[in-house]
Amino acid sequence: MNNFDCVSFLQWALPRLNMRWSGFRRVRRQVCRRIQKRIAQLGLPSIDEYQSYLIAHPEEWPILDRCCWVTVSRFYRDRGVFDRIFRDVLPEMARLALDAGEKMVSCWSAGCASGEEAYTLVIGWKMLWSLRFPSLILDVEATDIDPDLLNRARTGCYTAGSLKELPETWRDSVFEKSGNDWLLKSEYKESVAFSREDIRISMPAGSFHLILCRNLVFTYFDAGLQQEILNRLRQHLAPGGVLVIGCHETLQNGLNINGKGECVFYLTK
Ligand SMILES: C[S@@+](CC[C@H](N)C(=O)[O-])C[C@H]1O[C@@H](n2cnc3c(N)ncnc32)[C@H](O)[C@@H]1O
Repeated sequence: MNNFDCVSFLQWALPRLNMRWSGFRRVRRQVCRRIQKRIAQLGLPSIDEYQSYLIAHPEEWPILDRCCWVTVSRFYRDRGVFDRIFRDVLPEMARLALDAGEKMVSCWSAGCASGEEAYTLVIGWKMLWSLRFPSLILDVEATDIDPDLLNRARTGCYTAGSLKELPETWRDSVFEKSGNDWLLKSEYKESVAFSREDIRISMPAGSFHLILCRNLVFTYFDAGLQQEILNRLRQHLAPGGVLVIGCHETLQNGLNINGKGECVFYLTK
């Protein structure tokens, strides 16, 4: 299967999954490799045959959907965003929680991959703020559609590449070396709960001071689905809460109030 065939196939198939081709342009090789593997499993001679197979077998669409789950993540990904979260957002959310008489700052990492983003929040909180707000804990719900990634997340074991953006002093104090890998110490895992959710269908109960929804909905999904999910995300924000999207993503309908290139949004319900 050549690149051109795979691209035309994706341009045909993705809108039928409420996804958009432009989001996949840069990561298409990962997706094309998986599709190629699936075509081989089915014993089909070409991607054209796979297209016909999809038309004749609706039960194949969820399998194609799975080929489109892009798994890239890293600790402290997009450094400037985490710098801002740690400098401004976490202390503001802590004050909001205290004013409301609450005992926790509640966060949700949506599309959490192997937990890199969720654990980065916990590490930053413990390093920078937990002593200043001793009555508060930082509680993180972390959800993803991919059960294999969630299992990896629960082990807290990572390659050096996943940690390359994390400040070295933090890395050395929160991880233990285990062969070539790095193992997160248990005290950094306790306040993160992982669960499987397809964000198109369900979201964790409750409302959150901070929602991170980066490099998923606003990259891969089509405009209609983005809008629908954004409406539901807002319902899950605590009053005064913050939504963080990916740095290469934009919100529709003039919601990019903070200006282009901004990825941290203070949204009202
Ligand atoms: C590119 S990663 C982004 C990870 C992390 N948010 C970050 O920015 O580093 C996208 C994640 O979304 C997950 N995902 C894909 N489709 C999903 C869906 N419908 N519901 C929930 N998670 C999904 C994938 O399994 C993957 O872990």
